[in-house]
Amino acid sequence: MAGPIAEPSERSSNHPPVLSIHGLRKSFGSRHALQGVSFDLKAGERLAFLGPNGAGKTTLIRCLCGRCTPDAGTIQLLDRPIDDLGVRQAIGLVPQEIAIYPDLTTRENLTVFAKFHGLRRDALVQRVDWALRWTGLQDRASELVGGFSGGMKRRVNLACGVMHSPQVLLLDEPTVGVDPQSREKIFTMLDQLNQQGTSILLTTHHLDEAESRSDRIVIMDQGQVVADGTIGDLVRKSVGPSRMVKLRLDRPLEQAISLLPDDDGWSNNDGECVATVGQREIRLRIGDVAQQLPELLRRVKECGYDIADVEVHAPSLHHVFLHLTGRELRE
Ligand SMILES: Nc1ncnc2c1ncn2[C@@H]1O[C@H](COP(=O)(O)OP(=O)(O)OP(=O)(O)O)[C@@H](O)[C@H]1O
Ligand SMILES: [Mg+2]
Repeated sequence: MAGPIAEPSERSSNHPPVLSIHGLRKSFGSRHALQGVSFDLKAGERLAFLGPNGAGKTTLIRCLCGRCTPDAGTIQLLDRPIDDLGVRQAIGLVPQEIAIYPDLTTRENLTVFAKFHGLRRDALVQRVDWALRWTGLQDRASELVGGFSGGMKRRVNLACGVMHSPQVLLLDEPTVGVDPQSREKIFTMLDQLNQQGTSILLTTHHLDEAESRSDRIVIMDQGQVVADGTIGDLVRKSVGPSRMVKLRLDRPLEQAISLLPDDDGWSNNDGECVATVGQREIRLRIGDVAQQLPELLRRVKECGYDIADVEVHAPSLHHVFLHLTGRELRE
């Protein structure tokens, strides 16, 4: 599946880190879930954390929010060790499993979580009202959440994690099992928080989400960070400048033609050139699109064909992921 490279926003690239993780290790018996994980989350950033099943994503999130004690490594939050008194209050957590009370109403759930986080009186009432507006559930405020749809429960779950206005929000697969419309709503809600200054780290198995809804991507595999950068960075460092090119000719190919200076007219090094006599379409991978595309077009014209259309397929995050991990996201 080829998709466009969307260069994510550079807006947060120069900001200081709100969260710095260095050399984090965690083993469960002989299973090494985290094997020296290091990365930063910058202020105002939306960071997507990707990795195959068992890569260590949930273990990492659990270490960050104090549900699991790392064996080694450091975690700094807002320039202070995360274990310092009160520091962790700057973190909000939205766990993968929906963790709300089905026998309470939306308003009651929000109130309980706000109280857990120390909100009282006017501040509490105002925050609950805000959360009802933010989730779009004002008209369902007095209904028991047990009867809600999956997408609505997810929204309540999300709101419960941010009642204390955390500066850093951690979300473990916030859209797993969610229909596309609810996914969209959840990302709109996250973008609103982000615009108000919340830094966001989320794990996801949806490559399209990571590609379009984050500023930076960290890919983990077998407890280690294997890539860290914008989608543009990752493509450059892994797949490189090669691109799949599709040419549509004015008429069917009459005979084999030599397409690039060093090829025999039929296939490139990857054997990916498809140019069949009798067909109007030629597909091939070229090693350096900026250098070689003009040459390719010139040769086709030299052979007496006009070019009706040219498509250049940029590698997607899917290509990068496969290249780096050798595996699909879900196996
Ligand atoms: N409490 C635990 N006890 C034993 N092993 C554990 C525990 N928690 C995690 N692991 C192991 O650590 C490894 C990493 O698991 P983790 O849940 O962090 O992966 P993940 O990247 O979140 O995977 P998924 O994409 O499936 O959610 C796995 O091999 C898992 O079996
Ligand atoms: Mg997980």
